[in-house]
Amino acid sequence: MLKVFQWASGTVGRHAANAVLSRADLELVGLHVRSAEKVGRDVGEILGRDPVGIRATDELDAILQSAADVVVHAPLASLVYGDNPLQDLDDICALLEAGKHVVTVVGYLNPKAHGPEVHDRLAAACRRGASTFHSTGLNPGWMGDVLPLTMAGLAGEIERVVVREITNFQFYPSPEIMFDVMGFGAPVDEFEARGARRGQWLNGLFAESIELIADGLGLVLDRVSDSCELAIAVEDIQTAAGTVARGTVAGQRWCWTGIVDGTSRIVHETVWRMHKSVAPEWPVGKHTVTIEGKPRIHLALDADWVSDGLLATALHAVNAIPAVCAAAPGIKTRLDLPYLAPCLAR
Ligand SMILES: NC(=O)c1ccc[n+]([C@@H]2O[C@H](COP(=O)([O-])OP(=O)(O)OC[C@H]3O[C@@H](n4cnc5c(N)ncnc54)[C@H](OP(=O)(O)O)[C@@H]3O)[C@@H](O)[C@H]2O)c1
Repeated sequence: MLKVFQWASGTVGRHAANAVLSRADLELVGLHVRSAEKVGRDVGEILGRDPVGIRATDELDAILQSAADVVVHAPLASLVYGDNPLQDLDDICALLEAGKHVVTVVGYLNPKAHGPEVHDRLAAACRRGASTFHSTGLNPGWMGDVLPLTMAGLAGEIERVVVREITNFQFYPSPEIMFDVMGFGAPVDEFEARGARRGQWLNGLFAESIELIADGLGLVLDRVSDSCELAIAVEDIQTAAGTVARGTVAGQRWCWTGIVDGTSRIVHETVWRMHKSVAPEWPVGKHTVTIEGKPRIHLALDADWVSDGLLATALHAVNAIPAVCAAAPGIKTRLDLPYLAPCLAR
């Protein structure tokens, strides 16, 4: 039985911890939290279920000294949130060096996209602790990278891979993620004042995703370019995270392009709205993944193709645990792991 320490008890973290508790091959041994009012409480209570006899902690040392084999890491991403952009990397490396495997959802999907320093730091931590690091998610982490790579298995010649995500975030329940992290609900000057850090974070996340496709296809990219357009709310919008006031950012349309010899080979566009009425001139409808080549392969996914994206994000992490724990030490991208199945046997 693999022992799992859950790091963070937001929506994704709670889903992950509940998934661990429901699996016969995994044992939950701890929960790391940030909020002072959660420290010392029974984990079952935080998860909205019967007590499980484990107390939540806010101490890194508690994880390092625990019997945990692996940590599922799901806090707010420090690259964009909080005082120290490198906090996640510091924490993850401390865990890896202590011999704990780590599965995170904060990014670092393909660390070499951040440059050799980040990659080498993670690789060295894995070496010191004989541990394994893996990062995953829904998008990035599946829809814009693993799915097109899976589709590419049906292709011969590939000219271009084009991913378009169209998401209405009206129902995403986290004000921290929607407002503080992504910048919705901010006046444009405020959005732009924090734009450099947010842009760096998003560009990093999606460059990793694009580089993962490139790795899978054996392409060497010259660079990944980025662009962003904003849409402004014409009236107050009520969302699960709170109100997006008239005159503030209510839509973001990003495009990242992986370029080889001046030609765009991998394109990832995200059309994000806080309500379906925002920016009607932007693309609407389904998420699409297209392999332009021979044959052309085109997949269109309904907006509600997954009934709970945050649950799916958590399960992608939890389902990776057995493969991550069985892998040789080091950084393992999705290309290094086998097919990940849920554990259905009870
Ligand atoms: N790749 C993907 O497809 C994907 C999809 C969805 C989410 N995510 C990522 O998953 C993570 C969790 O998302 P969520 O929806 O669960 O968010 P959430 O519900 O807002 O939860 C946020 C979590 O961060 C913790 N936190 C509070 N203050 C913090 C700080 N200063 N620094 C670091 N963490 C802090 C909270 O601590 P407590 O435990 O004390 O409450 C909570 O556990 C985020 O990094 C998000 O970007 C990735």
